[in-house]
Amino acid sequence: MIDGKKVLFSGMQATGTLTLGNFAGALRNWVALSDEYECFYCVVDLHSITVRQEPAELRKRARNLLMLYIAAGLDPAKNCIYYQSHVSGHAELSWILNCFTYMGELNRMTQFKDKSRKHADNINAGLFTYPVLMASDILLFQSDVVPVGIDQMQHLEITRDIAQRFNAIYGDVFTIPEAYVGKTGAKIMSLQDPEKKMSKSDENPNASVYLMDDADTIIRKFKRAVTDSEARICYSDTQPGIKNLIEIYCTLSGKSPEEAVREFEGRGYGDLKLAVGETVVDALKPVQEEFARLSKDKAYIDGIIRENADKANYYATKTLRRVQKKVGFPERIR
Ligand code: TRP
Repeated sequence: MIDGKKVLFSGMQATGTLTLGNFAGALRNWVALSDEYECFYCVVDLHSITVRQEPAELRKRARNLLMLYIAAGLDPAKNCIYYQSHVSGHAELSWILNCFTYMGELNRMTQFKDKSRKHADNINAGLFTYPVLMASDILLFQSDVVPVGIDQMQHLEITRDIAQRFNAIYGDVFTIPEAYVGKTGAKIMSLQDPEKKMSKSDENPNASVYLMDDADTIIRKFKRAVTDSEARICYSDTQPGIKNLIEIYCTLSGKSPEEAVREFEGRGYGDLKLAVGETVVDALKPVQEEFARLSKDKAYIDGIIRENADKANYYATKTLRRVQKKVGFPERIR
């Protein structure tokens, strides 16, 4: 708890470009949470180097992601938006928790298995202990809730296991975090394979709408969206392509699927695709404009980076000192 509020923590990697899925499915819904929770949104650059990165590119992407959080509506005065690498407590706690995590547990992580297959030439120790760093991110702030996708559930589970193990030895040190199950927003599917989630790591650029795509690109991607040959507009699992288009239309316009179906009844797929495309263009426009504005205001962003790192450091250090004392490190003499 911080000032009587529960703590919410989430992190995103600065690799890949954020998509409409990240925006409509997550980011946009986070804006309303800052009244109820004390929120920390971290750009997890320490995690990024488990895969080889081009340094200048990583730095640029990390800053862009941080600005995108703000451009999407997260108020940096209410939400602590910061870089993981600016708060050394993440790495320090991670070392300690490494000593409370078993090789066998880490060996079972499906993401490690997937990534080892994908990066067979660089299966480094950081990739293996990635979940311990993620556990440290969460536990460092005594987080109560963590909004995560289904792909990160296993990592949240191991976080809880590590925290419970530590608490069983040393007393109640860590808050045991739970998955955030509030209004999670729509699940946006790929435009090229509507059975698959829209992903920022998809190799086909036509499968995803990126937050920074211009209007023409967005309209073109919707025109090319995979549908079916049934030639009727229904909201049904038997027509996943059409269902996805309606879903996108409804999340952004606030209309219900029934209203949308009525609106497009008897019309062609071309009409629907264009209407959805235009709705997306309109929804992303303010985000893109705000991003452009922030990009030019270096002093303002630098100020946020500094202040929020200080704030994160304050809370991180509080937990870290307690943990260091519990495991038997000597007290600091001032
Ligand atoms: N591993 C997460 C992902 O790839 C990112 C992440 C790092 C994270 N630390 C976190 C998410 C802590 C939630 C909480 O999506």
